[in-house]
Amino acid sequence: MMRLDTRLESCDLMLFGGVGDLSLRKLFPALYQLEAAGVLHHTTRIIAIARKDYDDHSFCTLLESSLRGYIGEDQFDEQHWISLKKRISYLRLELSDLDDYAAIKQAVATLSPTVIYYLATPPELYGTICENLHSSGSIASAGRIALEKPIGHDQKSSRVINDKVSCYFDESRIYRIDHYLGKETVQNLIALRFANNLFGSQWDQHHVDHVQITLAEQVGIEGRWGYYDQVGQMRDMVQNHLIQLLCMVAMDPPTQLTADSIRDEKLNVLRALRPITEKNVKRRTVRGQYREGKINDKACPGYLEEEGGRSNSDTETFVALRVNIDNWRWAGVPFYLRTGKRLADKVSEIIITYKSQRHYIFDPRQRAMAQNKLIIRLQPDESIRLRVVTKEQSLEQGMALQSRALDLDFSGGEQARIPDAYERLLLELMRGNPSLFVRRDEIEESWKWCDNLIDAWKRTGNQLEPYAAGSWGPESASKLISGRGREWHERLKT
Ligand code: BG6
Repeated sequence: MMRLDTRLESCDLMLFGGVGDLSLRKLFPALYQLEAAGVLHHTTRIIAIARKDYDDHSFCTLLESSLRGYIGEDQFDEQHWISLKKRISYLRLELSDLDDYAAIKQAVATLSPTVIYYLATPPELYGTICENLHSSGSIASAGRIALEKPIGHDQKSSRVINDKVSCYFDESRIYRIDHYLGKETVQNLIALRFANNLFGSQWDQHHVDHVQITLAEQVGIEGRWGYYDQVGQMRDMVQNHLIQLLCMVAMDPPTQLTADSIRDEKLNVLRALRPITEKNVKRRTVRGQYREGKINDKACPGYLEEEGGRSNSDTETFVALRVNIDNWRWAGVPFYLRTGKRLADKVSEIIITYKSQRHYIFDPRQRAMAQNKLIIRLQPDESIRLRVVTKEQSLEQGMALQSRALDLDFSGGEQARIPDAYERLLLELMRGNPSLFVRRDEIEESWKWCDNLIDAWKRTGNQLEPYAAGSWGPESASKLISGRGREWHERLKT
């Protein structure tokens, strides 16, 4: 197999929010894996920054036990940890206090010119941190900044954040994270679509009947009620992850494999999304909230009874949408999107259902089966499967049809461990490759579309529909897709 050059340039990482959940759960385990893979530059240093009272030693003690937990004792390698630990230091800082940034300035003076300022903090602090970095003279000449989601809660507030950050970093140095873009199978979509004429030539209104994208989770709010209740599933999952996936599936071929070529095509999809307004919001959307139920035989409380919950919350934990893209490629092809918490399964899948043959000569009762399906599973068990129709093998059945899967399973074979999305994102960030990050105009266009929809919900007094934890969401989500023999694809059934 041809190996691409994975060596990184010399760069250093300043991790703001270094003791937070995201850093401990995702970023440090990803850095550990990059260390284990030997791809970090030998001079790379990592500075964790937070207000908690640690020093280098006590922070590393905390980090070691956290890494052992997330990576798993059996996978944890002492040597890799020793090498990683040598790179790490801790800086105690009040993020809003300019005086404290003298310590950052001092640290930056000893680092390489390419410093990555990774903000894993609440977004309300992004502006203040950038301003303080600038005022204290702590922005390195080739500094890059990485911003976690959510960037605002609507188009207006996202502009305020973007404007503020762009006073100190120009767009080419801003890396907005959507961790779904770092997932292996999402990246594989580009290869699948644009390196295989078989699929590339059939990716349009003439061949595709409809597209489904499901991002289903079994987890609930996990102690984040205060945050989640302000945003809901629409802002937490649709505005970013679901819409980014939609763009990756629907975009036209980029002219080149460059960041701007890809992002231009994604932006064209966002601009072609048919607005959901007061007129069509009832027919095109379903909003749900989970009630108590059971998942894997375990009782789960309803959303309102979760820790920290309020009994009168109107926040949605489930969204299903029927979306159209008004351009040549997708005219008349509906995209069905759904995402929710406390659903029956943890699965992220994209399903392309192809049209059946116009002139059909087999048993009419089997017609519905005679539709090819391309099933792209992002998680768990990353795989791409194509359901094809073949003859049933038997002497008696004549030309009876059956639907079988051609399987491309990524979890076995040569590469056993599929890298976590954050490993890829950190790697590309250190390489200075912006392709997997979201450009300002994409975020703002996506907010514009979502703002319209949320506004339509408000104006029409759209009612929340309850669903039991452990189900597939409210009944109306099935109605949204039904007709013409369509139904939601469910992993548990296939
Ligand atoms: C985050 C959301 O962005 O994505 C969470 O804020 C959600 O609510 C998570 O649980 C899902 O990510 P993944 O990679 O586990 O599907």
